[in-house]
Amino acid sequence: MKRLFHIDSCLRSGSRTKLIADALIDRLSERYEIETIKLSDYDFPVVKDDILNERSSGYVPDEYVQIAKKIAAADVLVISAPFWDMSFPSALKVFLENMSLFNVTFASNEKECYGLCKAEKVLYITTRGMNIKTGDEMEQATPYIKAISKLWGLGELHVIAAENIDYSSPEQIEEKIQNAIKEGEALCDAF
Ligand SMILES: Cc1cc2nc3c(=O)[nH]c(=O)nc-3n(C[C@H](O)[C@H](O)[C@H](O)COP(=O)(O)O)c2cc1C
Repeated sequence: MKRLFHIDSCLRSGSRTKLIADALIDRLSERYEIETIKLSDYDFPVVKDDILNERSSGYVPDEYVQIAKKIAAADVLVISAPFWDMSFPSALKVFLENMSLFNVTFASNEKECYGLCKAEKVLYITTRGMNIKTGDEMEQATPYIKAISKLWGLGELHVIAAENIDYSSPEQIEEKIQNAIKEGEALCDAF
């Protein structure tokens, strides 16, 4: 069975993003072996001098190397993350920095960096409070995920998003979530 690695960056109980992600992961579990890391269960450290010095001397905690290896080996990578401060939560950025490991997720030669990850597809699932569409200049999550995908050698990025959630009635929110699930399921069936 092919492998899917899910970075669950939904940090709030009652997360609407998680409702969409749960449904899509459920759908994908029919064809993929799923492994999820739930960032709310972790406190990944901010990368600064101590970590950089350890890396320079060749040391990275084995737990992090093992997670990064799973990311590199996955056939599909799913990132679920609410839209915070025009991007995604910093917990996800800190996680990605800890996973951006030389000779695991990327490497370089004398000319350039290149990716070591296998996934041909990345699925980013989000909900946004404001009426901001994917690709809007105010939306700074997708460009970053595209860029890190390029560094790590990940494939095509697909985005499932529901917008204007914080200015919708409960009925409208439910409808938006169901629409995102429907769109996502059709997409996932082609993965
Ligand atoms: C800390 C925080 C920051 C947020 N920043 C933004 C923002 O910059 N733009 C926006 O459209 N919505 C913002 N929102 C609203 C969320 O995007 C929206 O409520 C989303 O549905 C939350 O996802 P969740 O239900 O999965 O937690 C923010 C919410 C929180 C809690």
